[in-house]
Parts: sequence; structure tokens; C-alpha cells
Amino acid sequence: MPIKLSSPSYGDLEIQAVTRVLQSQVTSMGQETYLFEQELKQFFGRDDFNVLAVNSCTAALQLALQGIGINPGDEVLVPTLTYVGTFQAVSAIGAIPIPCDVDNECFIDIVDAESRITSKTKAIIPVLYAGIDTNIKAVYKLADKYNLHVIEDVAHSFGSENIAKRNGIFCFSFDPIKNISCGSGGAIVSSDNNFTNHVKDLRLLGVIGDTERRINGERSWDFDVVEQGWRYHMGNLCAAIGRTQLSRIDFIKNIRCSITSRYMEELSGLKHIRLLPINYETAIPHIFPVLVEDYLRDDLKTYLLSKEIGCGVQYKPNHLLTYFKRGYSLPNAERLYEQLLSIPLHPRLSNDDVTKIIEIIKDWDLNI
Ligand SMILES: Cc1ncc(COP(=O)(O)O)c(C=O)c1O
Repeated sequence: MPIKLSSPSYGDLEIQAVTRVLQSQVTSMGQETYLFEQELKQFFGRDDFNVLAVNSCTAALQLALQGIGINPGDEVLVPTLTYVGTFQAVSAIGAIPIPCDVDNECFIDIVDAESRITSKTKAIIPVLYAGIDTNIKAVYKLADKYNLHVIEDVAHSFGSENIAKRNGIFCFSFDPIKNISCGSGGAIVSSDNNFTNHVKDLRLLGVIGDTERRINGERSWDFDVVEQGWRYHMGNLCAAIGRTQLSRIDFIKNIRCSITSRYMEELSGLKHIRLLPINYETAIPHIFPVLVEDYLRDDLKTYLLSKEIGCGVQYKPNHLLTYFKRGYSLPNAERLYEQLLSIPLHPRLSNDDVTKIIEIIKDWDLNI
């Protein structure tokens, strides 16, 4: 059986949840969405957190940028090593994503980011690559110094212990392969009431007060709209899947943590492979990238694929994409891009799968 790089973990509970919603005939936004938001809030353990469920993390980022008042032409600092969704969210509102280099933990490089600040820079989006936030305080310090907004792209970070310990604007992804999945989905979390009340309407085409009416099973017929909004809310079907996944978070966490521990222990000290200097202790590990040295990354990639073991490169730096080229190079991200290879990490891997992956990698390393 081929081993996948990543996979959701849907079972009977998710099937029952979807069936329940289908039988109710209310698949659009309603009670399930409301309950999912409440349960996420409980999960964070912060009464002051507001949670808005939306249809993706890309949508969450775009809404958050609009909600804090980013305008067309404004510049937003973004680490180049991220999924293209982070960049597209910025350009979707006409703002300009400014690619920044990353450090050895694949986190935005603060010195490089500072050097790219101009009078047009209005915000910074740190991406918690692999769920890790080691240098997040430096981002908030930089933002304070230059009066920038911070929006955290925490697509990889659901379950990270540190998030609920700070105040901020957090954009999660619940796409099929994330730590919890809604099928497709995301959420914006913030303790700023004015911000969330504003974004609540933006996610529903700007229709004022529509969230409250939909949760009560009503529709808006006589309403007002005062600005551009988007159809980005989450419906009951996705929310019901998310609620079930949330109830299984301990199971998901244990599996992801135990696979990561095995990789860290059993893949250390190899000739051509280095572990990223990442401490996963406070996170639910989302991806497991390794660094393959000596220009051998593609060799290992081809070898693993020939053995039916999924792997991938997370990510091609965005400043190398035609649409986001800015005419400068970002050396550390480019070096990492040549070396990074993500190996399988998801809740459907068995212990035997992990043993097989480790043995095959070690075998390659020994014989190359
Ligand atoms: C770091 C990062 N940001 C943003 C996104 C976009 O998330 P979504 O697919 O939910 O829009 C992803 C998704 O893979 C991601 O990994």
C-alpha cells in the first residue's frame, strides 16, 4: 500500500455528523457553525476570544487584512517560505505582499523584514511554519517599533499551546490535511471585539447582522450593506465535521507527537540528512520537513517515491513565482528550498508504516 505524505483522518463519527446535518436539511450556516465556534473558544480556554468560522485560511487572512484596514497599494511583509494562500490573500485586496527571507527554523527573518519596511508598510504576517513560534515576540517588537499590524498565519498551528497565551489575530486552516479538518475551512480568532464584529459581517457579503439571523434559522430580506464583503462563511456541514475532529483532538495529537518523536530520535545522526532545529514540544506537529544536504534532496525524493512513500517540498518560495517576483533574491529561503523534504506525518500512519519510512530513509542514506 502506498504511504501518503498527508491525509485527513475521517471515521464513523465524521460520517455520522455529516449524516445528521444532511438529515436536518440545513447544510448552510446555522447552529452547527455557531456550536463549532463556541467549542473552539472553549478549546482555547479564553473567554475573551471571538471565533469566526470561515471557508478557508486564505479567506480568513483576506478578511483579517480588510478588517484591520489594509488598503489597495499598502505593503504587507510575508515570509517567502509559505503556501501561496498567504500571498494570494494579501493581493486579493489589492495590497502588495513583500516577500521576506526566513531563518533556519523557516520563520520570518526579522532583520530582513525590517530592511524591507517603507512608508507604505502597514502589516506583517508571520507564518508559524510547522506550527512553531519561537521568534514570535520579535515580530510583535518589530511591529510596535514601526506601528504595523500583525496577523498570524497559524494554518499549521491548531493545538499549539502558546497561541492562547497571547493576544493577536490568528488565522487557522481546517483544510483536509490540517491538524483538524472541516473538509475545507478556516477560522479567525481574536480578542478584539470591534475587529471581530466588523469581520463577522464581511464574511457574509457585508450584510449587517446576518450571522445572528442565520444562527437563529432566519434569513435577511431587508438589510443594508456598507462595504465590500465576501461569501466566506462556514456552513453547517463543514462545521459538523470540525466539531467531531475537535472532539478527537487528543487522539490526533498523540499520534502526531509520537510519529514526530520517532523521526527525531531515529533519523538523527545520518550522513546527508539534518533535522530542522525545531522544538515541537508546545505544538501538535503538523508537517515533518528534513534537510537533505549535498544536493541530494531530489535523489531522496525520487527514491522515496519509487518505494511508494509520499514526500513533498514545503514550499517553493513565493518570490520565485512569476506573479510575486520582486526582483531580489532571498538567499536563506532559496537554500532551504533546495534542501527541504517533508516526509509523511498524519494520523492514519501505523507504527509499521513509520518503521518502514525510517528504514528506507536510513538505507538510502547509508548507500548513497
Ligand atoms: C502556511 C499556510 N498558509 C495558508 C494556507 C491556506 O489555507 P487554506 O487552504 O485553508 O486556504 C495554508 C494551507 O495549506 C498554509 O499551509
